[in-house]
Amino acid sequence: MRKNFGHWPAKSIDRRTFLLAAGAAFAHAQVSRADEPSETSLRQRAEKKGLVFGTQVNAGPLFSLKPYRDAVLRDAAMIVPENEMKWRPTQPAARQFNYFNADRIASFAEGNALLLRGHTAVWHQNPPAWTKDLISSGDGQKLVLDHARELIEHFRGRVMEWDVVNEAIAPEDGMPDNLRNWAPYSKGGISFIADCFHAAREADPNANLYYNDYSVYYQNQDQRRDAILGFLEKLKSKGAPIGGFGIQSHLIAKAEFNEVAYRRFLSEVADLGLKIRATELDVSDVRLGPDIELRDTIVAAHTKQYLDVLFDEPAVVGLVTWGMTDRFSWLHEGWPRKDRLRQRCLPLDENFAKKPMWYAIADALDHAPSR
Ligand code: XIL
Repeated sequence: MRKNFGHWPAKSIDRRTFLLAAGAAFAHAQVSRADEPSETSLRQRAEKKGLVFGTQVNAGPLFSLKPYRDAVLRDAAMIVPENEMKWRPTQPAARQFNYFNADRIASFAEGNALLLRGHTAVWHQNPPAWTKDLISSGDGQKLVLDHARELIEHFRGRVMEWDVVNEAIAPEDGMPDNLRNWAPYSKGGISFIADCFHAAREADPNANLYYNDYSVYYQNQDQRRDAILGFLEKLKSKGAPIGGFGIQSHLIAKAEFNEVAYRRFLSEVADLGLKIRATELDVSDVRLGPDIELRDTIVAAHTKQYLDVLFDEPAVVGLVTWGMTDRFSWLHEGWPRKDRLRQRCLPLDENFAKKPMWYAIADALDHAPSR
C-alpha cells in the first residue's frame, strides 16, 4: 500500500488544523498534569460510550517487555496481532502450519479477557513464497480459499472479528469492478471474494466478518471511496456474509481531509447494514519538520479531527491503533523520515509515556456520542 501514500496531497497546514493543533496542545497542557495511574484509560473512556478501544500487538515485545504489556493491558479492550496470523508465518511451507505466536496471542487475550481481532485471511501481500506459482495457476483460488478456511477454523470461537479480505480494491490497476490485479481476483472477480466470506462463515459461524481497506478520508480519494462503496454494495448483493468494514486509518499529518465526502462515505457504508471500525490507526509525521513538540501537536490535532468525524457515525463500533508506542511501528522501516529521526506516530512515546496523541484519542472518546 506504500505507493498510495504518494497520492495524498502535500498542502501546507490549513488554518483549521492550526487552531485544532493549538487546542490540542492546550488540552494536553491541562490534562498531562493528571498523568498518573488513576487517570481514566482509553479502554474505560471508550466503554463509557459503547465503543471499543483496541491496539495491534506484536508477540516479540508482548511476551518480553513488561512496560509494553502493561500499556496494552491498561488501555486496550481488544488486540490484533501485527503479523502473527498472516499466511506467511502461519504456513511457512505447504501443509506445514505454525500457529505458535498467534496461539500465544490468542491465549493472552483469553487470559486477560481481551477481545481478539483476526488479521488477515486473504491479502495479496502476504502469501508465503511456496505459493508463488500456484496462486496464478488454475488452483490459485482454491489455495487461497483453503487457507482462509483453515486459518479461521483454527481459531474458531476465539476470534471475535476477522479481516477476511484485506485491500482488494485498487482502481489504479484498471481491472473490472476496481479489483486489484491479483490472480485470484482477476480470475474469480467479486464472486471469489464472496466465496472467501462464505468460507469464513463456515469456518467460524459466530465471528464478525470484515472487509478491510485504506485511504477513504482525504482529498483526491474520491475514486477509492466510490470504488469501495460499489464493491461493498455488490458483495452484499451477492449474499456474502459480511458484517463490517474496517478502515485502516494510516493517516498522514498535514494531509487534507475531505470531511464532507468522508462523512457521506461512512453513512453510505452504514446504509448497507455494515458496522464500521477504524482498524489500524497511526499518524505518519514524514511531512513535518524535526521539532518534537510541534510534531506531537500536529499529529494529535490530526487524530482528533479524524476521530471526531468517525465517532459521529453511529455505525462505528470502535478504534484500533496500529501499535501503542513509537518504540514499535512499521512506519520506521516502511516509510522512514528523510532526516532519519524516528516517527512520532502512536499514542505513547518510546518510553511508554502518554503523548498528545493519547490525549487526543481520550478527548475524542470523551466527546463521542454514546452508542
Ligand atoms: C504491516 C506490519 O505492520 C509490518 O510489520 C509488516 O512488515 C507489513 O505489514 N496494512 C495492513 C497491515 O493491513 O497488515 C500492515 O501491517 C500495514 C498496512
